Amino acid sequence: MNLKSLIRDIPDFPKPGILFRDITTLLRDPEGLRYTIDLFAHKVKDAGLRPEYVVGIESRGFIVGAPLAYQLGTGFIPVRKPGKLPAAVHSIEYALEYGTDGLEVHQDALHPGSRVLIIDDLLATGGTAGATAKLVEKIGCKLEGFGFIIELQDLQGRKHLPDVPILTLVEY
Ligand code: PRP
Ligand code: HPA
Repeated sequence: MNLKSLIRDIPDFPKPGILFRDITTLLRDPEGLRYTIDLFAHKVKDAGLRPEYVVGIESRGFIVGAPLAYQLGTGFIPVRKPGKLPAAVHSIEYALEYGTDGLEVHQDALHPGSRVLIIDDLLATGGTAGATAKLVEKIGCKLEGFGFIIELQDLQGRKHLPDVPILTLVEY
C-alpha cells in the first residue's frame, strides 16, 4: 500500500511557507489505517523491540499509539501538555522557536526499568520526541525506541534523539 498517496499536503498551514503533511486522510481510510498500525507492529517486532508500554505524545501520538499498543499487547501511557493530567505528574520543559513548552506524564504510570516505546505521528525538529525521551529517561525507564508515521528528513530531528532504533513509515 502507498501510504504517501493517502497523506494530504496542505500548503501554507499553519503559517505561510509551511507545507503541512496531513494524516487525517490516511486515518479516514479503513485499509490505510489498518495497514499503518499493522506495519508499525511488524517493524517493532522485526527490530526485536520488546516494549511493556507504548508512550504516545499528545495529541496525534494518541491516535497512532493506542491502537499500536492494543496490537502489540502492551499498555498505553499518554504524555500530555501541562495541566491536563489529573494525578501527580513528572514534568519536562523544552525550547520552542519562541519560548518554551512542557510535557507531563503521571508519576505512577512508569517506573525505573519500565521498557517504553515512544510514538508520535511525525518527527520534525525532534524537540517534542527528544523531550519525551528525557522525561522517561529521568524516571529511569529503558527506552526501547521511537516510532513515527512520518519523518521530515530535512529538519534532522534524529540528531536530537538518543541512540535507539527509530522506526518510520514514510519519509519526506
Ligand atoms: C506536532 C507533531 C509532533 C510535533 C513534531 O504536534 O504531532 O508532536 O509537532 O514537531 P517537532 O519534531 O519539531 O517537535 P503539535 O505540537 O502540532 O501538536 P498536536 O499533535 O496536538 O497537533
Ligand atoms: N505536518 C504535521 N505536523 C507537523 C508538521 C507537518 O508537516 N510539521 C510539524 N508538525
